[in-house]
Amino acid sequence: MCTILGIETSCDETSAAVLEGRVVRSSVVASQVDLHAQWGGVVPEAAARQHVERLNPILQQALDTAGVGWVDIDGIAVTNRPGLVGALVVGLAAAKALAFALNRPFVGVHHLEGHLYSAFLETPDAPIPFPHLALIVSGGHTELVLARGHGDYLLLGQTLDDAVGEAFDKTARLLGLGYPGGPEIDRRARLGDPTAFRFPRAKVGGWNFSYSGLKTAVRREVERLRADDALDEMTINHLCASFQQAAIEPLIHNTLEAARALGVGVVTVVGGVAANSALQQQMRAACHEAGLTLFIPPPRYCTDNAAMIALAGYFRLAAGQRDDYDLDAYANAPLADSHL
Ligand code: KG4
Ligand code: ZN
Repeated sequence: MCTILGIETSCDETSAAVLEGRVVRSSVVASQVDLHAQWGGVVPEAAARQHVERLNPILQQALDTAGVGWVDIDGIAVTNRPGLVGALVVGLAAAKALAFALNRPFVGVHHLEGHLYSAFLETPDAPIPFPHLALIVSGGHTELVLARGHGDYLLLGQTLDDAVGEAFDKTARLLGLGYPGGPEIDRRARLGDPTAFRFPRAKVGGWNFSYSGLKTAVRREVERLRADDALDEMTINHLCASFQQAAIEPLIHNTLEAARALGVGVVTVVGGVAANSALQQQMRAACHEAGLTLFIPPPRYCTDNAAMIALAGYFRLAAGQRDDYDLDAYANAPLADSHL
């Protein structure tokens, strides 16, 4: 059995995990939301500093929880792209130092490849179903990807402007609901009416997405309501429900369309926004009706975590892939080509 250490520091979560084969033995995630909440968003310099402070104890905790020692680690997987470069290099430097000291191989993992595999962390005994269609929805990404095999991905659609999680966060900020906004909008939307306001569903061609129009429409409505002194708690709940419905409908529509057009029978929804209760509920119903098998990870694996990085790295290391000590960190890096 192969024991893999995963490390993730691409944004505002410091995380380490130990996998034995495909089985998660430990997954430790230290969120920095409390730190960044005071600024209403992630401050890169502060994120990097906090990774430096927290990574060592979190690595130790991941090993202790898994009940393994350093000598038991057979390989290391680390996120090296895309993300905040100052944050990424903290995890990457740690991975290189450990690989050198332990004389073990390490691989750099694309953050979105980690999210792709997060859908299968809970099913370690079943083969990864290929091909499958992955809807990656997070604070930084809104992408529809066809996974044809390990490391073989095709980009089918993506956002032309804001990511859907960013739209949730910006809308929450506009309504004074704090940071990050997704969970609070989700909670309030359950108390509101999704048909109270009619916000635009962007149609931008192909299987792409757009959220700037929706953001502007919500802002105009909020300004109008404020001017009329009509922005009470119930109205905010209606705004949350109506915004959320407009945000998730194109996600479900494009995913179902692509699955039908390509004849793919398995769908995954991954990334922080996959934790959204309305998206989960409506995607479940749509996939059930279309006869599609759906995988959505539990919330702790929807948001950033090192277990998903370790799983992606497990398949790369098992295939004999190794990286050198000159491996770099990159702010931007495509997961896949976009040619069908
Ligand atoms: O994957 P993630 O942890 O980090 C990135 O790689 O971006 O995703 C974070 C995003 C944030 O925008 C947050 O507001 C959103 O996921 N999010 C949600 C929910 N939980 C987290 N959005 C909608 N509904 C939720 N329940
Ligand atoms: Zn992420």
